[in-house]
Amino acid sequence: MKLWQGRLTGKLNPSAESFNRSLGFDHRLGSVDVCGSIAWAEALQYAGLLEDRDAKQIIDGLEHIKAQISAGTLDVDAGDEDIHSAVERQLTEMIGPVAGRLHTGRSRNDQVATDFRLWVMAAIQRVDAQLCNLQDTLLQRAELDWGAVLPGYTHLQQAQPILLSHWWLSHFWALQRDRHRLHNLYKETEVCPLGCGALAGTGFEEIDRFRLSDALGFREPSPNSLDAVSDRDFVAGFLFCCSMIGVHASRMAEALILYSTREFGYMTLADDFSTGSSLMPQKKNPDPLELVRGKSGTLTGRLAGFLATLKALPSAYDKDLQEDKQPVFEAADTVEKALEVMSGCISTLVVHKSKMFAAIDPQALATDMADALVSTGIPFREAYSLVGRAVRKAEELGLLLNELPLTEWQALVPNFDFRLLDALDIDLSLSRRAAFGGTAPEAVREQLEIAKGVQKVKLY
Ligand code: ARG
Repeated sequence: MKLWQGRLTGKLNPSAESFNRSLGFDHRLGSVDVCGSIAWAEALQYAGLLEDRDAKQIIDGLEHIKAQISAGTLDVDAGDEDIHSAVERQLTEMIGPVAGRLHTGRSRNDQVATDFRLWVMAAIQRVDAQLCNLQDTLLQRAELDWGAVLPGYTHLQQAQPILLSHWWLSHFWALQRDRHRLHNLYKETEVCPLGCGALAGTGFEEIDRFRLSDALGFREPSPNSLDAVSDRDFVAGFLFCCSMIGVHASRMAEALILYSTREFGYMTLADDFSTGSSLMPQKKNPDPLELVRGKSGTLTGRLAGFLATLKALPSAYDKDLQEDKQPVFEAADTVEKALEVMSGCISTLVVHKSKMFAAIDPQALATDMADALVSTGIPFREAYSLVGRAVRKAEELGLLLNELPLTEWQALVPNFDFRLLDALDIDLSLSRRAAFGGTAPEAVREQLEIAKGVQKVKLY
């Protein structure tokens, strides 16, 4: 029996039937569907639309189904169209025709919108926990690798030296924005569509939607029944948040892949997060990091795909909306796993401080020399050009910038004082960047304390 059998025979063409069926994936809504139904049965009872005895039977039956779902023993039938039909069929088999009273004043349209919001709200909290976990790892790395200096890059060319801890923390802040983005989405999602019926509102005005919304842990009931059943902004929002997290993880993964190559040699990944080659005995490949990078592309594709599905939908519910489930389930699974893997890779890798330090080309201190000349009264543009010429001269002579003899500096810059050469010292370069947010050890220490503070704040 189909839920909608009556006007139609319910004998759907087999290919249309399997095409229509969503149970293969929406079974994951089982627990939230039952919670929604229990709250609905209570709302019907409270409104006097369901006798106490019937309500008890229905709720007991649903509790039983809930336990079966948690235990993974719910008997789903190949013929069930979706999770809502499966639960209702089970309930009917368990308690008989009284089960038929549960759907009073409700539609699968407000039911599925409610279920999915509840599912996404829980998923947001799970992703937040993984984000926090990765943030913890980054904070620990920032402490552990204290003092390590990394050549900082722009355009993948050496730019200026930075503390490795500063680099780890740069990723911490990206994840902190992800956490806030998800939290804002949570507030947008915790609006209850139940009691909106198919599109026009439930036919029973006795239903107290405010009470119902509270019972399900939502903030408030949705104010417009049409919007309530068709709004999937929270789905697109979730896919965007996951894509953004994916992009952040991917950029981090890309850097780690690069830094752990033989050519860079700044880090070594742990064996537990590396794979080998079936042919080349020497190979140690960063597959988990590459998958983090690769899957971020798939995440972005799911967002684009779902936006395209939504684009031209006419008012209220359309079956196209069933396409919202798989991308969300897959995005949540991917992001949770990717964050876990990132955390594992980062906490177990080994940093080669001296190799990293040795890789710094003294040219990366050219800005420091220009700044030093500025402090003698030379305008910055002129200082910039003088140091540029010094860099060229050193290259012509086959020397590093800090090997350029004093006489060459003096030939370029009238009255060049030898003490200005201190500008080419890496530690001094770092310590000069002590303004808030800079890479000087004291500024990074301050940043680290702020980061620890914000990370501790529980959002849910
Ligand atoms: N499986 C459907 C979905 O996910 C449930 C809602 C069905 N509603 C309907 N009017 N056919 O969207």
